[in-house]
Order: sequence, then C-alpha cells, then structure tokens
Amino acid sequence: MEKKSLFIRTLGCQMNVHDSEKIMALMETSGYESVDDIGKADLIIINTCSIREKAAQKVYSELGRLKKLKTIKPELIIGVGGCLAQQWGAKFIEKVPCLDLVFGTHNIHLLPELIAKIQKERIPVVHTEFHESVNSLGISVRAKNGKVSAYVTIMQGCNNFCSYCVVPNLRGREESRPLKEIVDEVKVLADHGVKEVTLLGQNVNSYSGTTGNGHAFADLLQKMGEIEGIERIRFTTSHPKDLSDALVSCFSEVDKLCEHIHLPVQAGSDRILKMMNRRYTMTDYFDRVDKLRTVCPHISITSDIIVGFPGETERDFQATIDMMEKIRFDNIFSFKYSEREGTAAAKLGDKVSLCVKRDRLQLVQSLQERHTLSKNRNLIGNMEEILVESISKNSREDVAGRTRTNKIVNFRGYNNLIGKTVSIVITDAYLHSLRGVLTEEEVTQC
Ligand code: 5AD
Ligand code: SF4
Repeated sequence: MEKKSLFIRTLGCQMNVHDSEKIMALMETSGYESVDDIGKADLIIINTCSIREKAAQKVYSELGRLKKLKTIKPELIIGVGGCLAQQWGAKFIEKVPCLDLVFGTHNIHLLPELIAKIQKERIPVVHTEFHESVNSLGISVRAKNGKVSAYVTIMQGCNNFCSYCVVPNLRGREESRPLKEIVDEVKVLADHGVKEVTLLGQNVNSYSGTTGNGHAFADLLQKMGEIEGIERIRFTTSHPKDLSDALVSCFSEVDKLCEHIHLPVQAGSDRILKMMNRRYTMTDYFDRVDKLRTVCPHISITSDIIVGFPGETERDFQATIDMMEKIRFDNIFSFKYSEREGTAAAKLGDKVSLCVKRDRLQLVQSLQERHTLSKNRNLIGNMEEILVESISKNSREDVAGRTRTNKIVNFRGYNNLIGKTVSIVITDAYLHSLRGVLTEEEVTQC
C-alpha cells in the first residue's frame, strides 16, 4: 500500500510536543509517514495550545495559510487537536470551514479511526468528549535512530485550578500511569539507545503510581535510576505546594537525576498568590528553595512568572522583583497575564492595563537576563559533564549538548560524539548558551 504523508505543526508546551510524537507513532501504524514539507502532505494536523491569548492567535494565522493549500488540493485533510480544539469544539469548524477534524485532548487514540471516517464520508468530524481514563496516556513512542533524549508521560491533567489557568478545564482531572508501564517504556527506550528521559506531567509531584505511600513520584525516580543504559533523568513540571522532602532528597540520592528543577513561582506577593489560588506563600517557596539548595548546592532552578494579574499593584509587582533578586533563578519563562474564558480570574475586576503589563514584563525580563548571564559567566573555567545531542544549530563543525543543569553547550566536535557523555571545559558564556572545549583526555579518546 502506498504511504500517505502527514505533517504535524506543534504549538505550545513539551506535553504538546510529546502528544505530537504520539500522534505520529499512531498514524505510522495506519500507513502514514512524516514529511517536513507541508505542501507534500495528505494530512495536516495542528496541535494547538490555548494557555494564553497569543498561542490561540498563532493557530488562526496558521489556519489562514492552510485555506489556500486546500483550494489547490481539495483531498487534503486538515485536523486540529490540543487545548484550543478541546475548548472550541464544533465552533472551530464554524470559524474555519476548511477544517475536516477537531479532536480533543482525550481523543488522540481515536485518530486513525476518525481519519478513516473522513476519507470515506468526506464530512467534518468533531470529537471532544472527555473519557474516564485517557487512553493516549499509554501510547509509547518508538525511539528514532540516533535519538539521545526522549519524553515519557507519567501523568496528565490537573486538579489545581489556579485561577488564571485553562488547563484543568481542557485536559481534565489528574490521571497517573501505572509504574510498571512507565518502567517498561523507559527500558525499551534505553534498548534503542536513548540516554536521557524527561518525565512529563502537568504536576509530576501529584504522580500517584501504584505504591500508595504518598511518595510515589520519589519512588518512580528511584526506579528510573536503576534502569541500565539511562544516564540522565529529568522531569517537568513541579507545583511548589507539592514538592515533598522525599522528592528533594532524590537530588542527592538518585545519581542519574539531573540537577535542575522547573518550579513555577508565578508571583512574589502573597496577596496575588492567594488570588491565583496557588496555595503556598512566599515563605513556603523560599523554604523549598533553601531545602533544594542545601541538598544540592549547584541545582539550577528555573521558573514561570506572570505579570499584571488582575489587581496587581506596584507594591505587589515590587514583591516579584524582590523575590527574583533573592532567589536569582537560572532562567524563567515570563508572561503578561492573559484572560482566559472559563477561569475564575476572568471574573475579577481591576484589570491591569496592557501598557503597565508590558512595562512590568520588560523589567522582569531585563532583570532575569542579568541573572542568567551572570550565572552562566560563573561557569567559565568549570569542567562540565555534557551529553551530546546533535550537530550544533550554529555551525556544522560544532556539536551541542547540555550540562546536567540543562544549559546548552556548543563545542568543536564530530557527529560520532552524539549520544556520548563527555567532559567539557567552559570557555565562554552567553545568554542562551555556553561554549566549551573537550578536555585533553577526551580529545585523545575520540
Ligand atoms: N496568562 C498568562 N500566563 C499564563 N500561564 C498559564 N495561564 C496563563 C494565563 N492565563 C503561564 C503560567 C504557567 C505557564 C505554563 O503558563 O506561568 O506556569
Ligand atoms: Fe494550570 Fe495551575 Fe494546573 Fe499548572 S498547576 S496546569 S498553572 S492549574
């Protein structure tokens, strides 16, 4: 049977990137192969994100371009999945008539069936039902040849209902995968040459697994640490209120666990944190950071910060700046508050003007740039363990990898180094990456 071509565009977070990998794995079993040229595709899927207004706007502009393609190639099938698809459902097809398929966050596993139906009947299909159990959780993605690093979903959904966030409405309640299923998947990845796994979930600390002792995530990390062939373990994302002592201890007990944690703080004012329904205070957060740095002094800590939440005063904002000065994150993702339909915060008055949000974002970002650059510069002269992932984006003569603390390092080297862990001396530091050289010992070995 002749293979058909699939092009997937992914917008949004790592969860979406991994969902797209699952979609590709599923569709490969139905006779599709991946293409990089959208013009050659028989099926185009846009995996959408709705977390902020900007992400939703991107989907519109993307679909505008696809309308033209469909006029040239009427048999082309265009589908949208992900959070925006979940949110808009059938309204999506009313707004964008060239769409053939809208599938929700719990329906990835149905894709082959839905596509076959469209091919046969040529009528638009909408599937956004929530299921008791998310069947796509268990879809495993085969490691492609030469792939060094892989994502593994351990849980999905969220029960936290932060007042600004659409995720609990669009991804549903938390559901964890059985421990054995995750261990088996990681063993297969290791057999295919994967050296690093990133465990994914909206709130990995709520992973409930099968142990039932309240430390399920820490237990899972211990188990991951025993899998032969896996050299590095990472995870994302953690909610500060659920960061247990057992998990903090893993940073000293599980050798393969990399010294990096993404711990979204969102704001520095207790008043705003309360309105956000984050369920921790700044004292709790500082305490968690202290514990992490006591157990693992060189841990890199990254975070998410929202500016301009409704009612955020100059004083509240100053508390965010003070908190950043105190903690000195390695890096952050920072956002202007974006009102999302159906969230508790959308009902709040006293909105902060766009102009003030812009100014505050600018201040947060320039402060963070100073911190990131200074932290990166402090690494000059250090010897770092790098897992080499690919040829560098900047030069064909360089390879790129990451420190255990998740900083990108470029250095002169050939592609025979990909998948190897090497020692590199850091020689230069920039905002987004480091530069280094192989230690003399390593040069003689390669
Ligand atoms: N407005 C701005 N930022 C948001 N985030 C989530 N919802 C919103 C929103 N409505 C940010 C948070 C979260 C990250 C993934 O996206 O900082 O941690
Ligand atoms: Fe959204 Fe809060 Fe859940 Fe994170 S923890 S996904 S910010 S509701």
